[in-house]
Amino acid sequence: MPRSKKEKINKQSLHALRGMRDILPDEWEYWDYFIKKAETLAKNYGYRFLETPVLEDTSLFVRGTGVDTDIVEKEMYSFMTKGGDNVSLRPEGTPGIVRAYIENGMNVWPHPVKVYYSGPMFRYERPQAGRYRQFHHFGFEAIGEESPILDVQIIQLTWKILESIGLKGLSIQINSIGCAVCRKAYRKLLVDYYEAERNKLCQDCRRRLVRNPLRLLDCKEEKCMRLAALAPQTIDHLCQECHDHFKSVLEYLDELELPYTLNPRLVRGLDYYTRTVFEIWSQGEENFRGSLAGGGRYDDLVEILGGSSTPAIGSAIGIERVIEELKVQEIRPSVSPQPKVFLIQLGELARKKSLKLFSELIEAGIQAAESFSKHSIKSQLKLADKLGAKIALILGQKEALDETIIIRDMKSGMQEIVNFKKVIKELKKRIK
Ligand code: HAM
Repeated sequence: MPRSKKEKINKQSLHALRGMRDILPDEWEYWDYFIKKAETLAKNYGYRFLETPVLEDTSLFVRGTGVDTDIVEKEMYSFMTKGGDNVSLRPEGTPGIVRAYIENGMNVWPHPVKVYYSGPMFRYERPQAGRYRQFHHFGFEAIGEESPILDVQIIQLTWKILESIGLKGLSIQINSIGCAVCRKAYRKLLVDYYEAERNKLCQDCRRRLVRNPLRLLDCKEEKCMRLAALAPQTIDHLCQECHDHFKSVLEYLDELELPYTLNPRLVRGLDYYTRTVFEIWSQGEENFRGSLAGGGRYDDLVEILGGSSTPAIGSAIGIERVIEELKVQEIRPSVSPQPKVFLIQLGELARKKSLKLFSELIEAGIQAAESFSKHSIKSQLKLADKLGAKIALILGQKEALDETIIIRDMKSGMQEIVNFKKVIKELKKRIK
């Protein structure tokens, strides 16, 4: 490459990829706040952390998420490795968790196996508010239990997490999409209904009608929504078992006084769901700002991915959306604690001694801050003041030679010289 062209390229500013973003320290306060609450509740409900790789064999998602879903059809980040393997960045967590369940012989663990996870997901979607190409899930999966009580417990846990961070105005949208048995007959009914209205459908829905007719129910195009409102509803065509299961789910929800809305158009965009599906929305349907969380039962997925038939259910919270909602509702996370002590150093010898003293302060459990890059006492005192430190420790050249240090009360300005070796003991007396 000619030198001038190379230089030009090197000077171009670099940006994060479209739909991907940095999480800066101020924003991390929100993440930290959410994740800590979510983890505590997940653990209290008996879920244990399970980490799976971000990169998996593409076929896992083709078989798991489903070949006819938007995610697999057009949103995956897939590529060939140097070794010739076709791999994809995970677009969601559930197939990886189920693969791990099968691969690690968790079928012999006490059931249900309850795990939670948290990490980045990747979907090549059109970025817009609340929709990113790299986003993060906090999810749970409970594998090996068919009882409707677990459906409700998962919904309750998801709800509680969102409630515990202070969010208001949430609603649970719920539906049952039946099982492989009842869905066959329902699917036919649905296709017959839509075939008669084919020319009123959007381009995407005409295509979906052949491969994935259930998805027509949640198309966001105005004309398709009008047709969906009059379409046959899944809950009117459930087999007896699915009907009884859903009835129990609703009864348990009533028992817990969780506010839910029956939403016949909720089908979810992933192929593996059976029976209960749900989402948690930030507002009612009129002011819909996007789902904060979604999940459902997937009783066939373990078998689809090569395990023995095992019922399961799960849910995932979209962390970015939750944080945006916290901001909309003006809920501020409690900020990180202010340092109690600020260590000021002046001169080379003092700086050297300060480095060791600072780590001793931290080891002693004292919240401390420093600014080793600053040299003047004025600028360091200013920073101590800005951070709200109660005490400043001042170590100058003289003190460093005398084996002493100054303790300054930031509020009164009173100063006291103490023995360097006794400083931690002296501090502990002052900051209880
Ligand atoms: P999902 O509905 O695709 O479900 O994603 C769950 C949540 O992730 C959504 O409710 C939304 O808050 C967030 N989300 C989805 N796409 C994006 C995006 N592009 N940008 C930002 N946030 C997004 C699942 O993925 C299932 N695995 C959930 C599950 C677990 N079902 C059973 N177990």
